[in-house]
Amino acid sequence: MYQIYPRSFADSDGDGIGDLPGIIARLDHLVELGVDAVWLSPFYPSPQADAGYDVADYRDVDPIFGRLADADQLLAAARSRGLRVLVDLVPNHTSSAHPWFGAALAAGPDGQERARYVFRDGRGPDGAEPPNDWQSVFGGPAWTRVTEPDGRPGQWYLHLFDTGQPDLNWDRPEVRAEFVDILRYWLDRGVDGFRVDVAHGLVKQADLADWRPQDEPVSGPGTEGPRPPMWDQDGVHEIYRDWRRVLDSYPGERILVAEAWVQPAERLAAYVRPDEMHQAFNFEYLEASWSAPAQYAVITRSLAASAAVGAPTTWVLSNHDVLRHATRLALPVGTPRPRGIGVDDPQPDPVLGLRRARAATLLMLSLPGSAYLYQGEELGLPEHTTLPDESRQDPTWARSGHAERGRDGCRVPIPWEADAPSYGFGPGDASWLPQPTLWAEYALDRQRGVPGSTYEVYRTGLRLRRELRLGTGSVYWLESPDGVLYFRNGALRVLTNFGADPVELPAGAELVHASGPLDPDGRVPTDVTVWLRPGDEPGEA
Ligand code: NOJ
Repeated sequence: MYQIYPRSFADSDGDGIGDLPGIIARLDHLVELGVDAVWLSPFYPSPQADAGYDVADYRDVDPIFGRLADADQLLAAARSRGLRVLVDLVPNHTSSAHPWFGAALAAGPDGQERARYVFRDGRGPDGAEPPNDWQSVFGGPAWTRVTEPDGRPGQWYLHLFDTGQPDLNWDRPEVRAEFVDILRYWLDRGVDGFRVDVAHGLVKQADLADWRPQDEPVSGPGTEGPRPPMWDQDGVHEIYRDWRRVLDSYPGERILVAEAWVQPAERLAAYVRPDEMHQAFNFEYLEASWSAPAQYAVITRSLAASAAVGAPTTWVLSNHDVLRHATRLALPVGTPRPRGIGVDDPQPDPVLGLRRARAATLLMLSLPGSAYLYQGEELGLPEHTTLPDESRQDPTWARSGHAERGRDGCRVPIPWEADAPSYGFGPGDASWLPQPTLWAEYALDRQRGVPGSTYEVYRTGLRLRRELRLGTGSVYWLESPDGVLYFRNGALRVLTNFGADPVELPAGAELVHASGPLDPDGRVPTDVTVWLRPGDEPGEA
């Protein structure tokens, strides 16, 4: 599954923002790369307060991305190439420019229209304090006070993200009915499914109780800590069971994919029970340290948790919300994932990052389940870590009081042609975020057909993954020295060396594919993954 971030994929009209016609013109790239399906981040009409995750109209296309007819054409063009298409569904919140929110403001405190959102009176004298202590994911309070139609300061509304993203109230039947209708609207247009934004957030604890995570014991992978009142409430599952019934009523295979930052893996697995969603992003995997024990633990735990509910496991290393893995993996092992890097921060080593990223990717592509790629990672793109602060657009930067750089660094328009303006992103120089000067070397045309390039490593990996049916295989661990992971999936042996020293290839093993060159003695160097055909193998562990 390949994630397209429409703003930054390909720009057909030169306004510096990618668009649907641009995607259509570049679809053959995805066929050549060898993916099965694409997921498109939102392209709906939106004020773009959060790059389109603030939707003002769920049934149309924003003019910056094209027209509804372009969406139809994109679906047809993908289908004719054998590519499936998932669109992004944003049900936790609308944009504040959505007609429902306008009606809620106009209705005043007693109006029924307010009930579709989470409006409350404030605390303290004159209701001047927010109704509870919840913080927005982007920083600052999760509540904004409105001015009532009579001009007086009035109620507050909840927004777990930006002020421009009021949370919907999923207790309301008309909210539920509306989203079923939106699902049908896009299913009828021929989409193969939905990536569901903030799938763990729709239902809040009824009392909206205060939450002071700093007072609570920290939960970690494999443990279940106290559950915050705004996340992963049991009530969300009923919604997904309803939606599953809708999808199942359509011909062909249509899927729901949960974006749910939920740990441990067992709680995430609840989202992919047989009558709920089909897949859920495995962020515990994305966040696991680059070490043999950590990777072994997360892989085994993920496989067991999804097997328990009969769902495919998923694997993801990058997306539009996190530091690209070619940069993240260069940070000292065990560093918590930073929320953005700026010019005055220590700069990660791009050579080390890319080496580990390629090893991580080949490890991921050898695992059974669904692998999710983020546009540009097939080029080995690093994060833009020196983006000028004045160009930042992620609301995180302003809302955190400039404490967190945010996510712009992974959203920079991608390079296609080394010597073209905007590296071929668009017809001219325009690019909504500035591209780094050193990106020519990552451009697709510098890598296509070049043995050992990151692009060709991905392409071969994806071809073999398909040919060897790795996605539907199983993992059998094989004995290996400390610092090395070694396993079998079907006819393939996979070895990743996380240790400090090179390791010998297993006796008689034949090299099929590698994330980087072997050393002069034919050994697997540090931070390299190799795919092998069996030789004499030790017993299964
Ligand atoms: C998750 C999306 O991936 C992210 O980009 C967005 O900011 C939040 N949800 C809010 O919609």
